[in-house]
Amino acid sequence: MKITNICCLGAGYVGGPTMSVLAQKCPHIKVTVVDLNEKRIATWNDVDLNKLPIYEPGLAQVVSEARGRNLFFSTDVDAAIDEAQMIFISVNTPTKTFGVGKGMAADLKYIELCARQIAKISKDNKIIVEKSTLPVRTAEALKTILDVTGNGVKFQILSNPEFLAEGTAVNDLHSPDRVLIGGGEDTEGQNAIAALVEVYNNWVPKENILTTRVWSSELSKLTANAFLAQRVSSINAISVLCEQTGADVDEVAKAIGMDSRIGSKFLKASVGFGGSCFQKDILNLVYICRHYNLQETADYWLQVVKMNDYQEHRFAKNIMTTLFNTVSSKKIAFLGWAFKKDTNDTRESAAIYVADELLQDRAEIHVYDPKVNTEQVYADLEYLQANRIGDFVEKGDFLNSEEIRSLVTVHKDPYNALAGAHAIAILTEWDEFKTYDWQNIYDNMLKPAFLFDGRNILEKDTLEKIGFNLYSIGKGV
Ligand code: UDX
Ligand code: UDX
Repeated sequence: MKITNICCLGAGYVGGPTMSVLAQKCPHIKVTVVDLNEKRIATWNDVDLNKLPIYEPGLAQVVSEARGRNLFFSTDVDAAIDEAQMIFISVNTPTKTFGVGKGMAADLKYIELCARQIAKISKDNKIIVEKSTLPVRTAEALKTILDVTGNGVKFQILSNPEFLAEGTAVNDLHSPDRVLIGGGEDTEGQNAIAALVEVYNNWVPKENILTTRVWSSELSKLTANAFLAQRVSSINAISVLCEQTGADVDEVAKAIGMDSRIGSKFLKASVGFGGSCFQKDILNLVYICRHYNLQETADYWLQVVKMNDYQEHRFAKNIMTTLFNTVSSKKIAFLGWAFKKDTNDTRESAAIYVADELLQDRAEIHVYDPKVNTEQVYADLEYLQANRIGDFVEKGDFLNSEEIRSLVTVHKDPYNALAGAHAIAILTEWDEFKTYDWQNIYDNMLKPAFLFDGRNILEKDTLEKIGFNLYSIGKGV
């Protein structure tokens, strides 16, 4: 089947950029991205490209090239499903916060809703592509819903996990290390795979397009994220030891990374990994292992998440103990709130967990992030209060919305956030933080001037010469 019409359900961090690049690279295919969220679609359609709902370097240019030509953003879900030959599902799959699998399993309610909607609307055969990260064997569940509730039309289900990282999404989509497509082993399944391979082959060389059976593809996505997260937790585990022994974790990372068998990427010690995927996907993996009674495998991977919680917790605790065991009514300035630089995404950001712990002691937190808006910061803290899932989050007092708003201030100007602070904490590695006038910042804060660099981005010697008491991750004295 030659594909000329694609629709994507979900205009989020994955669906939006992925479909924009697909449309840019395939001008002969009409691509419609639909979402239930009207506001989100309106901002995707805004003439001012600075207002796109997602901040991602290079994205505005891609959108401006394809939007209105063969790329469309719409809330008319039914019409888009009806005319598409191929439908990508890219809705979110959050960790369940209630019921069976609470705090572990993926909540598939949106996926199920999509399947039912597709089944209801479709009048001709379609290829369904799972883009969302899903537990292994979700394709089977999707197929059951589609086949039973559909109008007798035939559906092929493919798994095509997304490996883009936020902040570098456009580049990752333009030149992916590999594209992974899983599908059925029968003729119809192979034909569906071939149709999707042809779409990607418009810009990705054939040798970088990997085809597998559907469950291998689903499991590969979870495994890739588990391995990446595991590297971060491994180096973070070593960072604690470095602090005790007088080693420097960045030196250790460099030394081991030069071993080509280990490789140098994902060895940056930090306050902890965040993002919508790592924790969620590992918890998913753990849940599946437990389902199959594979307790040892489950425990092995769960430890990666526990290590990350510990890293966030010990960063917060270090601030507390260094500030003479109390942060109550003290001004703590946060540089960064996003889970990494070059994105406005804050999901599972270490900043949220560190802030939450300091708020337990009623610290006054002043946040500056170049791309995160004020309401997002409050929403993140409120969400955490309402959804303390798993065994990992420190069980603390419940703070209501008014209390949070009275203790947390979000600034548009970094120097205002920093002025008069008892301590500064760097939570995100934004490049601009390195270029600040640190002498001026030092002059305008309380002494001793404590600075906690959760991303190891500042020059230790320079900052200490100015007079800061600098605490970096994994740097023993
Ligand atoms: C993605 C993947 O889908 C998820 O599985 C992966 O683990 C993380 O990344 P992402 O694009 O980041 O999700 O999520 P989000 O930015 O929340 O976007 C999802 C969109 O789907 C939202 O805009 C939401 O409004 C929309 N949606 C959700 C629908 O249109 N219909 C629904 O039924 C549910
Ligand atoms: C990740 C995967 O990389 C991507 O392939 C998948 O599609 C989605 O999940 P993302 O979460 O967007 O992407 O960002 P990533 O660059 O992987 O960073 C995740 C977290 O780990 C961030 O908080 C980052 O700061 C942290 N990290 C990463 C470290 O602390 N140290 C490192 O060396 C690398």
